Amino acid sequence: MAFTKLTINSLPLSGHTVLLRADFNVPLTDKGRIADDYRIRSSLPTIKKLLADGCKVVIISHLGRPDGKKDPAFTLEPAAERLASLLGQPVRFVDECVGPKVKMAIKRAPKKSVIVLENLRFHAEEEANDAGFAKQLAADSGADYFVQDGFGVVHRAHASTAAITQYLPSVAGLLLEREVDTITQAMKHPEKPLVAILGGAKVSDKIKVIEALEHSADTIIIGGAMANTLLAYGGHPVGKSKVEQGQDEIIKDIYTGAARKAGEGRVDDYLVLPTDLGIGRSVSPHATRTEASIDHIPADGLALDIGPASVKRMHDIIADAKTVIWNGPLGLFEIPAFATGSNALAAQLADASHITTIIGGGDTAEFAIHWERAHKKSLGHISTGGGASLELMSGLTLPGVESLLDAR
Ligand code: 3PG
Repeated sequence: MAFTKLTINSLPLSGHTVLLRADFNVPLTDKGRIADDYRIRSSLPTIKKLLADGCKVVIISHLGRPDGKKDPAFTLEPAAERLASLLGQPVRFVDECVGPKVKMAIKRAPKKSVIVLENLRFHAEEEANDAGFAKQLAADSGADYFVQDGFGVVHRAHASTAAITQYLPSVAGLLLEREVDTITQAMKHPEKPLVAILGGAKVSDKIKVIEALEHSADTIIIGGAMANTLLAYGGHPVGKSKVEQGQDEIIKDIYTGAARKAGEGRVDDYLVLPTDLGIGRSVSPHATRTEASIDHIPADGLALDIGPASVKRMHDIIADAKTVIWNGPLGLFEIPAFATGSNALAAQLADASHITTIIGGGDTAEFAIHWERAHKKSLGHISTGGGASLELMSGLTLPGVESLLDAR
């Protein structure tokens, strides 16, 4: 086990009031409805355990980026309603997160009840990691303990992730423990071979994780728009494809790391780029697809997916893997014609029971959750964290984890 912090299993929380930081920052539809409740569902084991222990559970979270001002578009009330239906018990929602209304509601609530407080980010003090605000959150909740279970937000040093731990004994929830354990284990002590698949738009966003993977991964496969940037650097014509400019120094460092790891002559087998691509002429839901090898991308073409030869090569590499870390879609999966690479990867991973799979990153998780639902199959560990999982994979310190009580 890689987790070194106290958890809700290590303390006698029975019958106490617990302030639980969750990440209910869920995607919303245009009409303000919850588009996907994966993060709320992932919080259930901790909430259920606390209820089974007879606790009064007071949940705090953020939703969106309302800039420190009350904004009804970002209320947590729909999240509280969804939680009630998932738990099968009433959940009281309070439209403040501090103040007399909060104090009164919590005081009146019986044990084994759940209260959700309003969006923390309606107060600028939350993102400012303000000690006074954290103290008030702790005091007004009447809590005896603080439980951090919002894995998606622990890379932020905010009042509800950092300062709060000065005012209450603070431990981890079960989701946080599982996320940190699974991701750390896969990065530091993976069952080998470890194959990393990286996609998404920007090389610059992934540089730290690539550097960390160049220590542990046996092969790194690159797809998505990121691959266009590396192909353009290698002198391939990429037409009108999305390319991130000004990345030459970063890419040089990536290749230096790959050569150090794999040996000069083996870089292309270690850092695997697509050899062919799915090409569109526009980014629209009905865009059609042609295919081209990387040296024949038409001048007006947009590379929007990996091609069939690249899918086959990826398949052969993964066939021998014991651990796969996947961060970043391989194409523009929102357009069905360009979801081929990501779909093929998901299908292979779902059928490979010998592979431990860790999927991280907001877009990749969104793709994976929908894929699982559509195919009624499991893809392994789908992280609830976007930035948090990337930072953890990169070996960075997460303030919301660091500030919890140590297990020893
Ligand atoms: C996320 O969605 O990555 C987390 O909820 C954190 O949100 P933030 O990027 O707005 O801090």
